[in-house]
Amino acid sequence: MSSVEKSVETLEKYSFDELDEIRRTPPETTDFDRIVDTVLTRRAMLRGGLAFGTAALVMGTTALTPMPARAESKLPFMPIETNGLDTITVPDGYSWNVVATWGEPLWSSGQDFDHVNRGTSESQARAFGDCNDGMALFTHNGRHILAVNNEYTTLRVHFGHRPDGLPVTPDDYRKGKMAHGVSVIEVAQTGGRWAIVKDSPYNRRITPDSKMEITGPARGHDLMKTSGDPTGTVSLGTWNNCGNGRTPWGTYLTCEENFNGYFGSSDESYEVSPELSRYGIDHTDWGYGWLNVDSRFDISKEPNEPNRAGYVVEIDPLDPDSMPKKRTAMGRFKHENAELVVNSDGHVVVYLGDDERGEFLYKFVTAGKHVEGGDNTDLLETGTLYVAKFNDAQTGKWLALTPETTGMSEAEIAIHTRMAASKVGATTMDRPEWVAAHPNKAEIYCALTNNKNRGKKTNAGGDEQPVGGPNPRAANNYGQIVRWWPKGSDHTSEDFEWDLFVMAGNPTVHDDKYGGSSNVTPQNMFNSPDGLAFDSKGRLWIQTDGNYSNEGDFAGMGNNQMLVGDPETGEINRFLVGPIGCEITGFAWTPDYRTLFVGIQHPGEKGGSHFPEGGNAVPRSCVIAITRDDDQPIG
Ligand code: FEO
Ligand code: CA
Ligand code: CA
Repeated sequence: MSSVEKSVETLEKYSFDELDEIRRTPPETTDFDRIVDTVLTRRAMLRGGLAFGTAALVMGTTALTPMPARAESKLPFMPIETNGLDTITVPDGYSWNVVATWGEPLWSSGQDFDHVNRGTSESQARAFGDCNDGMALFTHNGRHILAVNNEYTTLRVHFGHRPDGLPVTPDDYRKGKMAHGVSVIEVAQTGGRWAIVKDSPYNRRITPDSKMEITGPARGHDLMKTSGDPTGTVSLGTWNNCGNGRTPWGTYLTCEENFNGYFGSSDESYEVSPELSRYGIDHTDWGYGWLNVDSRFDISKEPNEPNRAGYVVEIDPLDPDSMPKKRTAMGRFKHENAELVVNSDGHVVVYLGDDERGEFLYKFVTAGKHVEGGDNTDLLETGTLYVAKFNDAQTGKWLALTPETTGMSEAEIAIHTRMAASKVGATTMDRPEWVAAHPNKAEIYCALTNNKNRGKKTNAGGDEQPVGGPNPRAANNYGQIVRWWPKGSDHTSEDFEWDLFVMAGNPTVHDDKYGGSSNVTPQNMFNSPDGLAFDSKGRLWIQTDGNYSNEGDFAGMGNNQMLVGDPETGEINRFLVGPIGCEITGFAWTPDYRTLFVGIQHPGEKGGSHFPEGGNAVPRSCVIAITRDDDQPIG
């Protein structure tokens, strides 16, 4: 039986994060822990209860504090209601159009998307990839170049023409591979609608086969050497590119997340090392089947190949011939995004989440300093990686990962980063997703999307996941957003204070803290915050990748959505509802803030959608552009 066949049942049942769990059966668990944390009540005293009051937490939603009147709101749109429609819903006065869709050719020599056979490896290699996620817009000489991550393929949609919705032929495996990576596209607005500029010299596909230079501490280390690259300096490709970052020197950062799901072993007796197990690598892949056509993905043949994935990759979007650079100094884990700030002293600080239950939150501080207009090309090659330790009393510490603190070499820290972080006693988190830094002050937010194992089970490295601090709810179905303030507004400081901006929840189902913080109401409720980004006015945009069953704990929440929050008042209003089965992920603004590009990922992942074309069309991930009908800035 092939690894693909073995994975069929698994894939139908589980999401990415759950796939990592199925080999680690949880112990018998007790019911939800509903004890109110003293941490949260203390926080309300410290910060004046901006986001939620002590009373709300202790007494439930009957004690919710009222939201500011509309007249005071800094969110200038009429909030929309949730729904379960197979389309995009935005407030009155706003419009949207589809910009780029899975399988859409980037060159006029390419083939239009084939709704019957869903393309070939050849057509896919010249077309926009699947399941778009993070993105950034680069404007150069009046031209707009959008770099977009193509995270993965929803097998049952991508291969919906095959029995069981799984790849069958060698070309199927290769096609799936070509749908991953990054699509760089020039986009232009004509007659109010944004679209791909076909044949633009900027158009480029970066795939799991594109050459990448390995930089930083792991470069050339024995753990990075393979039969195809005995020097350990040039790897092939990037895949499972989730969130992103961008640098002030004009490069794009793409973040490799669930890289593990592509590896398997043709030798069933192959003994998987603890180092590979920590990252979820085992004998079977998640059904992609790449190892059937590319031995790099067979760990019994290439045990070091997985060490070459799981990094942040820096790409020059304006030079299609440039070789992307894997920045190993920022560590190897399931990178969500890379939020970069230039500190007042010139050091560049990058905040990084590791999206798995009970993994950690990191920051990287460059050794060098950013020089405006200077050569900053390799600033991300050298620096110090830190991991966060949160204390219950709303304080925290960044712990440096160095040979002294971990007993590991710099290369080993870069490659086996999770083990290094476990050694120093970092705080296990509720799945750190996107980090976003306030544009006007030193205040940083991270979405902790959910964690059903909180208080129940260790992480993959055996670290406990106690209830407390910024992870205050056991068996956390809903998620929360933590924020912190570096001491002295200095992003390089090792000290910070923190609180929770919001605890998501369902006040129509729960009258305790599972109903959410006081800024969560029946009108704006949501679950599983994931994408975060600020606009120019300091408003926080929140995207969700959560449970859209609209039942039980999630009754009344509808499809996945995008909301906007006011950091000052805690007010949160719903701006967008996506189509059936999608998640909303990825943001990019035009320089004038008149257009907001947003990613619609995996519509119809469990069936029931024909978005965006309707009729009987195959549902397809896409980027949409949102504009205001009066042509004023959105953000
Ligand atoms: Fe690709 Fe953690 O989301
Ligand atoms: Ca995400
Ligand atoms: Ca996601």
